[in-house]
Amino acid sequence: MIQFYHVSKIYSGNIHALDDITLQVNRGEFVFLTGPSGAGKTTLLKLIHCEESPTQGEILVNGINISRIKHSQIPYLRRNIGIVFQDFKLLKDLTVFQNVAFALEVTGIRGKELKRRTWKTLRMVGLLEKMDELPLKLSGGEQQRVTIARALVNNPPILLADEPTGNLDPEITLDIINLMNNLNAGGTTIIVATHNTDLVRKYSKMVVKLVKGRTVDQLHPERPALRAEVKASFL
Ligand SMILES: Nc1ncnc2c1ncn2[C@@H]1O[C@H](COP(=O)(O)OP(=O)(O)OP(=O)(O)O)[C@@H](O)[C@H]1O
Ligand SMILES: [Mg+2]
Repeated sequence: MIQFYHVSKIYSGNIHALDDITLQVNRGEFVFLTGPSGAGKTTLLKLIHCEESPTQGEILVNGINISRIKHSQIPYLRRNIGIVFQDFKLLKDLTVFQNVAFALEVTGIRGKELKRRTWKTLRMVGLLEKMDELPLKLSGGEQQRVTIARALVNNPPILLADEPTGNLDPEITLDIINLMNNLNAGGTTIIVATHNTDLVRKYSKMVVKLVKGRTVDQLHPERPALRAEVKASFL
């Protein structure tokens, strides 16, 4: 579903954010992307979401080679990808319902369909009762669940989350990860970038560890020979 083949990203100023990354995330997988600050986690997510393009190498998302994607195709690619950030980026003058519905409106959905899908997604994250509240009246965990609902309301097959629990206390962090676990059980492919090594240890998921832009570890409970697998799929 997501494949990186010898991908490097050099920002201007000769900053090597990613250096020769080869990895594969299969459909329905849940991956923790870990590593210290500056290791390249956000950059890797941005490449998948086409916010940045690779300096070298190839990236496939859903079978499309996004390393050579035309600008006009990016919105279509992004319909397959929901994204959640650490700083919730909710619109503070809009209600919970409106914040989530907005993501559907921009794709042209209106009326009953808009309401039905927004309610369904808010129910899924446990926030239907709060739909008329403004974000500032919600707890941090609830606000993060709104951003997850917003990322999911278009039913994307892929969810990317960049430090989604960075500002949350440990109990709420578990709530959020459990919510993602349920989404994953429903078939969504999930990549969570996090510093939180306790969290990573708690769940038996695929782990990609970056240090200074290189993968130092790719652990998978069932697929030890990851690199060979990736290479084969590009040949
Ligand atoms: N737009 C940019 N221009 C230049 N350098 C950048 C840019 N974005 C990131 N970098 C640099 O690239 C490297 C990787 O940054 P990145 O944000 O991907 O790391 P990270 O693993 O997400 O770190 P953190 O855990 O602090 O969020 C860092 O050295 C960073 O300073
Ligand atoms: Mg980051």
